[in-house]
Order: sequence, then structure tokens, then C-alpha cells
Amino acid sequence: MSTWANLGLQDSASPLMEQLIFFHDHALLILVMITVLVGYLMFMLFFNSYINRFLLHGQLIEMIWTILPAIILLFIAMPSLRLLYLLDEINEPSITLKSIGHQWYWSYEYSDFNNIEFDSYMIPTNELSNDGFRLLDVDNRIVLPMNSQIRILVTAADVIHSWTVPALGVKVDGTPGRLNQTNFFINRPGLFYGQCSEICGANHSFMPIVIESVPVNYFIKWISNTVNL
Ligand code: CUA
Repeated sequence: MSTWANLGLQDSASPLMEQLIFFHDHALLILVMITVLVGYLMFMLFFNSYINRFLLHGQLIEMIWTILPAIILLFIAMPSLRLLYLLDEINEPSITLKSIGHQWYWSYEYSDFNNIEFDSYMIPTNELSNDGFRLLDVDNRIVLPMNSQIRILVTAADVIHSWTVPALGVKVDGTPGRLNQTNFFINRPGLFYGQCSEICGANHSFMPIVIESVPVNYFIKWISNTVNL
């Protein structure tokens, strides 16, 4: 999760988020180069003296400063499109998790396992334990196996919500009457936190997401215990 003074992106927990971070750094590098060049030119303008009294046009420089930015934009557009289609790819998921947004909590369904379903509410500050994260921890976490492809289906029951977990690079809107799909692959164990990121009403800030990533055999234990409840 994000902690104090963490201004960049969170460490990735999935290959797609890793790619998103690479793309972010690539775009930022180009942005810095453009800013430095334009900044230098603007600064140097203050010391300019008009020495070409009859200069009205310059075909060559016009060509250069039209085509060059277009080529620079291509260097951003091509990796961007690659990533866009990569995010959309579904790679034979082993399990499917369905996530339904409500005002103001998430509910989850494991449709592959006797349709296990449960609600996931934020733990209020006055009920929080000392090691809990305020406004971020929930009563029932999503347990998912690491190192496996997971499909997530997102929808909502009332207004638009958004199921967003930064460490996994997942951000999908839940819209009433629609079923959105994406997938991810968690490559390490841990707790991954997320929040709703669609302005969905008064308690929008209070419907966090917690994913507990565990090894596959632990997940099987958990799911069989839950089925037998
Ligand atoms: Cu649900 Cu914002």
C-alpha cells in the first residue's frame, strides 16, 4: 500500500502493473526532455536581439518543428497502444471473482465454488485494531491465489462504482446493468489495498478493497473451509 511521502506509483504486484510503471517512466522521460528544451528556448528569448530585419518565413525550420513533435508523439502512442491491448487480453483464467459495488460496500461472489458470496465492509475507526489501517481495512477480505490468472467481473447494484487496486494495475468501473471484465495475475503474496474510484455518493471514501494474496494450497484450504460453513 501507499505510505507517507510515497509520491510515485506503488510497487507492482502483477506483470501488467509492472508494464504500466515502465510506460509511466518512459512517458515522464519524454516529458522532461520536452520541458527542458522548451524552458531553455523560452529563457533564451529574453536575451534575443533582432538581427534579421527582413526575415518573414523559413520553410525548413517550419518543416522540422512540425514533423519532429509528430515523431515524438509516435514514441508515446505506440507503447501506449501496446499496453492498452495487453491490459484487455484474457489469458485462460483459473478462477473468476465477481465484484458488485453497492452504496457503500463491495460484495463478492466466487462463482466457481458453489457460489460463495459475502459482503466486505470497511472497519470503522472506533472498531479498528492497533495494527489496522484506518479507512482501508475491511471485515471480510478477498482471498485469492498467487501465481494464477484471475478473471474479475465488475458490476454495481445502484450507482456507478469503480473497483481499483493500484498494486495490481486494475481499475474497472462497476455500472448497473453492465458486466465489465478484466484479468490480473498476482505474482507475490501479501495484502493489497484499493478504493472505489468513482464518485458514488456521500460515503464514497468508505468502501475500500482488500485482497489477501496467498499460495494456491492455502487458497484451496480457505475455499474448502468456506464452502463447508
Ligand atoms: Cu463506490 Cu465511490
